[in-house]
Amino acid sequence: MKNRQILRVIPAMETSDGAGVRIRRSIGQSQHVRLDPFLMLDEFGSDQAADYIAGFPSHPHRGFETVTYMIEGHMLHEDHLGNRGDLKNGGVQWMTAGRGIIHSEMPQQEEGMMRGFQLWLNLPAAEKMKPAGYRDIQPEDIPQLTLADGSQIKLIAGEFERDGTQHRGAVVGGSTKPLYLDIQLQPGGTVSLPVASELNAMLYLYDGRASLDGEALQARAATVLAAGDQINLAAADGGARLLLIAGQPIGEPVAQYGPFVMNTVAEIEQTLQDYRLGRLTG
Ligand code: CO
Repeated sequence: MKNRQILRVIPAMETSDGAGVRIRRSIGQSQHVRLDPFLMLDEFGSDQAADYIAGFPSHPHRGFETVTYMIEGHMLHEDHLGNRGDLKNGGVQWMTAGRGIIHSEMPQQEEGMMRGFQLWLNLPAAEKMKPAGYRDIQPEDIPQLTLADGSQIKLIAGEFERDGTQHRGAVVGGSTKPLYLDIQLQPGGTVSLPVASELNAMLYLYDGRASLDGEALQARAATVLAAGDQINLAAADGGARLLLIAGQPIGEPVAQYGPFVMNTVAEIEQTLQDYRLGRLTG
């Protein structure tokens, strides 16, 4: 086994999106800061309603998938296909924009904490124009692995073998084999996990303090990992919570214009025309 080390650190930048929701963006803060197949990673987290109340009114997407993980809070997703999804504490929404989706994501609370993440996962050229899809994953449907010391890992997506046991997330498969884990380490807790060598991988520490193979992780930053097939994590005295996100790189050119992600500028122009003419969704 080869331990993965820290390759580079992308601190999250504060910005706003939607109708004025405050977010912290690491991956995707510029078009030069991506980790194939991931286009964007946003963290939202505030107990001030003004930071989230405006939400994300109706807007389009084409050419990729969005994965929203709600740690605390309540949002309602609605889209042109007629899907309505309540996203609550611990739930995940996996949306495939494919050839086109028009959706809104609006807070269902007027006070209190709203906290979570949105990840943009690219699709290869062959799948960019597939039909739109939507999956609502309830918290109780996310498999959880409890370690001997009480540390817990939520398996949102992907699969791996550990100590002779195969572990499968709520979502398995996909051409980029996405792995998405929420790891909650007890004070002083440690864990070693396999991360297949063909996957690009990153960590995002969002609570407490932790280290990778003895090297301290920066909080609120996407920590991109070097090549290897295993990670060794250790939490400091106060424990730690972090995401592990990995996927197989697509290796194709990316042309992005806001919520549209294609391979070429010509395809983006076609997308804008489709949207203007009301043909985005087919
Ligand atoms: Co959206």
